[in-house]
Amino acid sequence: NGDGDMSRRAQSRSKSRTNSRNSSVGVKAQLDDFEFGEELGEGSYSTVYHAVYRPSGREYAIKVVEKALLIRKKKEQVVLAEKSTLIRLGSGHPGVVRLHWTFHDDWSYFFVLDLARNGEMKTRISRLGSLSLPCARHYAAQVVDAVAYIHARGVIHRDLKPENLLLDDDMRIKITDFGTGKILGQEDDRAGTFVGTAQYVSPELLHTNTTSKSSDIWAVGCIIFQMIAGRFPFHAPSEYLTFEKVKKLDYSFPDGFDEDAKDLVQRILVLDPIKRLGAGEAGSDHDMNALRQHPFFKSIDWQSIWVDPAPPME
Ligand code: ADE
Repeated sequence: NGDGDMSRRAQSRSKSRTNSRNSSVGVKAQLDDFEFGEELGEGSYSTVYHAVYRPSGREYAIKVVEKALLIRKKKEQVVLAEKSTLIRLGSGHPGVVRLHWTFHDDWSYFFVLDLARNGEMKTRISRLGSLSLPCARHYAAQVVDAVAYIHARGVIHRDLKPENLLLDDDMRIKITDFGTGKILGQEDDRAGTFVGTAQYVSPELLHTNTTSKSSDIWAVGCIIFQMIAGRFPFHAPSEYLTFEKVKKLDYSFPDGFDEDAKDLVQRILVLDPIKRLGAGEAGSDHDMNALRQHPFFKSIDWQSIWVDPAPPME
């Protein structure tokens, strides 16, 4: 496959001088500082590779975005959004993939990211069918905490889903793929044209083409439902029909769905974005703190969710 090919291409163009700066220590890195390894994943406009930074021996994930493809698909915005949102998020939270360096050559952009060795949450859910309740609760808490951080930094993700929740060495989630991200208060070239992923799309995006922090919270509700039920809340044979279900809030819980989880999901999957639990103004009865204090999370110690051992993945 492409791995060897990538390495050869990387070697052959390694002479191109590329610029980048490590945000924390100011050290520049360039393509030939890295030994590329296996392919870790593929996105619509990018491929992610395992890589070792030769000077330190540290391992990273490098996202390679082909310039020609971006231009052909008129998606130059994606790479700009990803870089600016990741820089904005910095190294401030364990639940967000950190950007260490960026550089580019004539062919591609390179994003040097935290390596999340345990892959995507989506793969875990698919393999297990669904997660045990303690496991779903633990990961739901990490997702809520990471999303609260992202929002507090003024960033919305706009495509939260289990594919974009990676798992690191310690089985902690890391939110990735900020190509759809937006910094609040900055103009957005994609305003009004943007659609995330059908199963997680909020009703307000379908009705008024608007997204806000609240639309990320909607997706969190869909993810919590999916971790427990093992299926999407809103799913139909076509995107169009899925959208119709979202707009009508047409979903139901499987038998045996935990009552606290059901109450939580019902308070998040609310059509009016301003009424969603977790989306209210700080200090209101449905702000992020109210979400954290929901009975479903009663056994969660929010101070230690990033150091507590994860429950067995089952
Ligand atoms: N696949 C996509 N991004 C990744 C990352 N940062 N670590 C591991 N696998 C990935």
